[in-house]
Amino acid sequence: MSISGAGPRRLHVITWGCQMNVYDSGRMADVLAPLGYAPSPVPEGADMVILNTCHIRDKAAEKVFSELGRLRRLKDRRAADGERMILAVAGCVAQAEGAEILARAPYVDIVLGPQTYHRLPEMVARAARAGGAVIETDFPPEDKFDFLPDSAAPQGITAFLTIQEGCDRFCSFCVVPYTRGAETSRPAAAVIAEARRLIGQGAREITLLGQNVNAWHGEAPDGSTWGLGRLLRELASLPDLWRLRYTTSHPRDMSEELIAAHRDLPILMPFLHLPVQSGSDRVLAAMNRRHNAADYLRLVEKLRNARPDIALSSDFIIGHPGETEADFRATLALVRSVGFAQAFSFKYSPRPGTPAAGAPAQVPNAEKERRLAELQALLRDQQARFNAACVGRFLPVLFTGPGRHCGQVAGRSPFLQPVHVTGPQELIGREISVAIRSALPNSLSGTRWPGQA
Ligand code: 5AD
Ligand code: SF4
Repeated sequence: MSISGAGPRRLHVITWGCQMNVYDSGRMADVLAPLGYAPSPVPEGADMVILNTCHIRDKAAEKVFSELGRLRRLKDRRAADGERMILAVAGCVAQAEGAEILARAPYVDIVLGPQTYHRLPEMVARAARAGGAVIETDFPPEDKFDFLPDSAAPQGITAFLTIQEGCDRFCSFCVVPYTRGAETSRPAAAVIAEARRLIGQGAREITLLGQNVNAWHGEAPDGSTWGLGRLLRELASLPDLWRLRYTTSHPRDMSEELIAAHRDLPILMPFLHLPVQSGSDRVLAAMNRRHNAADYLRLVEKLRNARPDIALSSDFIIGHPGETEADFRATLALVRSVGFAQAFSFKYSPRPGTPAAGAPAQVPNAEKERRLAELQALLRDQQARFNAACVGRFLPVLFTGPGRHCGQVAGRSPFLQPVHVTGPQELIGREISVAIRSALPNSLSGTRWPGQA
């Protein structure tokens, strides 16, 4: 198979997991575009299929193998027609279980970790030449961001921008420090340049991404080091940018400067995803979180002083090894005292190679399920109350696409709630004040403020 001068080729990417994987999938497509690969919405007929995988919880590898089984049939069918489909597994499952993937699915052509996707063209060339599989899961000495193309397909009105990757915090349960590697921050100039490019392509809202995004400490244009608060100030001054967000943050890395940015920058949206994981000091210590429940509550108070309308979101893990009923009750108490606008909660899932996976006192599954159900009922109730409290208010909504029903458009409120409005498609790309009329568990609907087009 030749890979150059062969006309357009079709690339299908399947993405699991976090927003950073969504960003990475886009960048992999950008890297392959000069080789003639154009996105295909379906795997049928694709010349290359990439599975961008997530290893954070649950049976991640099993999901990948079952998808691979399906794709193998397509690949075989293509081969019978004399065509080749290159099958690549990328992301954190590839990083953690690369050898296992090739042993169980030898028809996979490329296995690549999250830090090597800038080398994809070379890997594709090698896979096209060689019979065997190509595996690239080492952490390379070079920074992939230095090798990614400046050109990129537009992401749309809302765009993601990775500014930080990896993590040095080593929470007991988390695989990220092993799959994404040590914490790295992109220089401020590179971030600002990418933000300008995204805005030039029509982005009006940018979400800065990082596994521990508020640990960002990048080289400033003058050679000093900036923190995230300073970077946000700089980005807030870019013309034609209306909204800024960042995710995901660690409570220990919320600096005073960052809290002040919430006070001073109107374009920094009043919504913060700030995972606490547990409300029990004992469990927080076992998790190696390096903060206790009181620290978290103090931080929430500071944030609310800085930006009174700020809405909070969190992640919770239920049934971390050693969690007792009393620990669980402490989590419920913390949830009650904060009042979350939304949250994600998960049963603890042992990740091979992490400290908690081998810890004694694993919590039985039935117990985890019972506690999770109780926590989720409380969180659902808080989210419903938060949404209901928006009814009767005017909220600015940035419209991003068509709504669920014909004649509707959909967008996001400052608090990240999906909002549906009856109106013309021309509203997409605009930010308009909406009178909120009703609330569902996960979304709002409303009408345009009279007098607006
Ligand atoms: N088990 C369950 N949940 C986990 N998370 C991370 N690792 C695990 C695990 N082993 C959750 C955390 C984190 C979110 C992204 O996923 O709550 O904040
Ligand atoms: Fe994982 Fe977040 Fe802890 Fe880092 S701070 S180890 S990414 S949970």
